[in-house]
Amino acid sequence: MRDQPELDVLLKTEETFPPPPGFAASAELSDPEVYDRAAADPEAWWADWAARLDWMEPWDTVLDWSDPPHATWFAGGKLNVSANCLDRHVAAGNGDRVAYFWEAEDADAPGQEDRGRKAITYSWLLDQTQRFANVMKGLGVGKGDVVGIYMPMVPEAAVAMLACTRIGAIHNVVFGGFSAESLKERMEVSGAKLLVTADATLRRGSPMPMKASIDSIFDELEEMSSVVVVNRCDTDPPMAEGRDHFWAESVEAADPVCEPEPMDAEDPLYLLYTSGSTAKPKGIMHTTGGYLTQVAATHQMVFDLKDDDIFWCAADIGWVTGHSYIVYGPLANGATSIMYEGAPDYPQKDRWWQIAARYKASILYTAPTVIRSFMKWGEELPAKHDLSSLRLLGSVGEPINPRAWLWYHKYIGGGHCPIVDTWWQTETGAIMISPLPGITTTKPGSATVPIPGIEAAILDSEDNPVEEGGGTLVLTRPWPAMARTLFNEPERYVETYWKRYGPDTYLVGDAAHIDEDDYFWIVGRIDDVINVSGHRLSTMEVESALVSHPGVAEAAVIGVSDEATGQAIISFVTPQDASNRGDDFTTELRQHVAERIGKLARPRGIYYADDLPKTRSGKIMRRLLRDVADGKALGDVSTLKDPSVIDDLKAQISGG
Ligand code: WT7
Repeated sequence: MRDQPELDVLLKTEETFPPPPGFAASAELSDPEVYDRAAADPEAWWADWAARLDWMEPWDTVLDWSDPPHATWFAGGKLNVSANCLDRHVAAGNGDRVAYFWEAEDADAPGQEDRGRKAITYSWLLDQTQRFANVMKGLGVGKGDVVGIYMPMVPEAAVAMLACTRIGAIHNVVFGGFSAESLKERMEVSGAKLLVTADATLRRGSPMPMKASIDSIFDELEEMSSVVVVNRCDTDPPMAEGRDHFWAESVEAADPVCEPEPMDAEDPLYLLYTSGSTAKPKGIMHTTGGYLTQVAATHQMVFDLKDDDIFWCAADIGWVTGHSYIVYGPLANGATSIMYEGAPDYPQKDRWWQIAARYKASILYTAPTVIRSFMKWGEELPAKHDLSSLRLLGSVGEPINPRAWLWYHKYIGGGHCPIVDTWWQTETGAIMISPLPGITTTKPGSATVPIPGIEAAILDSEDNPVEEGGGTLVLTRPWPAMARTLFNEPERYVETYWKRYGPDTYLVGDAAHIDEDDYFWIVGRIDDVINVSGHRLSTMEVESALVSHPGVAEAAVIGVSDEATGQAIISFVTPQDASNRGDDFTTELRQHVAERIGKLARPRGIYYADDLPKTRSGKIMRRLLRDVADGKALGDVSTLKDPSVIDDLKAQISGG
């Protein structure tokens, strides 16, 4: 573990923001008493939320924590996620309710009139889900099988996820921006039998092939027997006879009825691979009953969801935010959401505000990095649109600096929308620390306090709870949506999260401060994870991508703060051939990383050194590299094997 990052982006403002009186008066939760009630009996609190779902069999026990860190929630209970997200709303007469207003990136391009915008109802989703579930069954997929999903932001992505839950298959969604190589690795380690993908995805108006770009991986994936391809862009992708099937034809031919499989509360729901502190991604496994309970509960209480809300979570379905707050939370609650396919600045930089105004979005949930881009583009752009429908704003993925918070509040929220800064992780499955907008007085930059039923603490270097000040963030009570294990790596799960402080204290991996009002200020990661635009990458992953290039002898990667993306990746490389230091080589290496992992992992800068700064025992001194990159005065370098390498690096950095 490295030392804690500083609070540099979190310079406090003194201003605080109580819930606007009108907002508090109509909020479902407006009495701070809920915190005490939930703390007095957390199991009863979560059981109340769970009872809002449809259970095929009631549970016997809310929580079994007799064998920590292995929790069992709602043991004995049976339910089906798709039935909770779809059937029950249709049965209640809400089949015509819109689940998603889907907006294509090129919605206004000529010829898109009939396919650029779709109002997707709960009935339509249910029909497509049942049909696609039958398609999968026909391809030999059953309960417990793993299904890969590698898709653009199209409605079929949500259908594919829901169809998996219908038959008890376990989905493994891989963000569409990851490379073929990353996709292959994630399919291989999870033993996926089927992949659902698209012919292509739109990138700033032009199709970027998906199916063709991943075609080479299938030969090496022994367990993968079928591929289903959504035709998004009419690009006529290569299709292997017998293995590859088009979505539309298969779904049309399928039986429209597929009864939902009764699943145990603890049956696996999905896997989502995320970066850890080694090169090998971790397969976070979520299960059924507890996960659905907490995503539905948090979507309801944190966003103070009302019947007529138009909810817009502007994340990608390929990340946990999309899983929990585009798909499962909103659908379980029968909400109406916006699903937008494309980039925030295509075809023009006010694209989002055009969408928000068109559909009268009332809740917007996005990441600080996007807010900072909008800040840069100027407040004139949102000002051109009627954003008066907005009543609540949310932030997620990284600390939000107070300047961005205040800008978001003023120029997007018109000064009257509360902001919920929600802290959570892929592992936690659902929101953990966040204001409740009808109760909590917010402080820009702080995620405030754990939601009712959740307990967090900050521990100092002697493992004692900190009353006021900084330390390591831990969670001290099990919660329903917690990851249950790492797929096929149960020891790594215990080792990574539950060893440092014992089996009933979850190690988050974030540094945080707690202030005089017991508000939490999350600072950033304390492990070798870099958070680029709210996306998690590990230094080891990028390092191993770099050294897999034949021209690289050695590489070290660090995260540095970046005004736009929160953190950025900087790498230090020792080339095989010392003369390989120029811009061409840098371009080649960045391209190589894009191919190995994905564009999001490309280093912002690459610096070259004949040797990397190492201790005498050969350990790369990353802290020193970080100081060099930040232009900081260097501390003690006496442990360095060859101090001259530092001067070379310094010269490159100051030279731009
Ligand atoms: C890490 C988790 C949660 C979905 C998106 C990211 C950072 C997340 C906040 C926040 C400060 C935050 C943490 C966390 N993070 N939300 N509101 N304030 N930091 O999920 O990829 O699993 O990353 O993102 O460092 O550990 P993830």
